[in-house]
Amino acid sequence: MSVLSVKHLLGIKYLNEKDIQLIFETADQFKEVINRSIKKVPSLRDITIANIFFENSTRTKLSFELAEKRLSADVINFSASQSSVKKGETLIDTVNNILSMKVDMVVMRHPNPGAGIFLAKHVKAAIINAGDGAHEHPTQALLDSYSIREKLGDVAGKKVVIVGDILHSRVALSNIFALKLQGAEVKVCGPKTLIPKYIETLGVGVEPNLQKALEWCDVANMLRVQNERMDISYFPSTREYTQQFGINRHILDSLQKEIVIMHPGPINRGVEITSDVADSSQSIILHQVENGVAIRMAVIYLLASQIK
Ligand code: CP
Repeated sequence: MSVLSVKHLLGIKYLNEKDIQLIFETADQFKEVINRSIKKVPSLRDITIANIFFENSTRTKLSFELAEKRLSADVINFSASQSSVKKGETLIDTVNNILSMKVDMVVMRHPNPGAGIFLAKHVKAAIINAGDGAHEHPTQALLDSYSIREKLGDVAGKKVVIVGDILHSRVALSNIFALKLQGAEVKVCGPKTLIPKYIETLGVGVEPNLQKALEWCDVANMLRVQNERMDISYFPSTREYTQQFGINRHILDSLQKEIVIMHPGPINRGVEITSDVADSSQSIILHQVENGVAIRMAVIYLLASQIK
């Protein structure tokens, strides 16, 4: 059986192209399973997984839980806001207490970049990073590339523009790593203040004009402005942001071709994307969510196969 080159999924940065292909081929099989009338397989009957979330989530949390249940794993859920973290317990103490209940795998979302990397060094369990601050969100990038592959046949050679708040986005960084590994061309587009200075060292182009960026690309991945990670103003007003970097029907209709529209969610309708675009046939936003379950089943299954 093929195995991943890693024992944890901490970031796309630690994967190679073969890992991504293996995850996609495994996800293809699980996608077939979750579209059957009996959507469950007994693969992980002896595995217990803890989902520990120190930050809010809708899609990622539900998608991991569903993926785990579809694989017949035992699942426990931990929400920091209702836990003894509020009484001052450390991350390692919290996780070691959970692990002493014989947990094999931890799926963690945390506001601090590198929290998963830190945890993997200190505890005996497979760790999956479900988003660590503005650092990485590897399963989101995998499901995004998988959705491009499904829609356009391949990721290699495709032109993808990531639009919006690149500076605070773990989705952007993980997508850049994943897309470049698979041979896609990547540009970013957004206010100058929200584009990291190092971005070109990742082999990514910068296009400050949205119209030009959309004329260039096959796929536009629209990101939310992450106000919760900002302590200063990065642009004059939301209205001006939308005028310059929001996608709407008028811009799409002005292009000479039909491009694919993506968004990781949650969407701010009317800010980075209008409803008529988000809900159009060009949008694959809900396919991304559907594919998230198959991708997460694949990641969990492949990591679990390495647990002794
Ligand atoms: N895409 C994403 O990570 O969404 P949630 O924050 O709802 O999990």
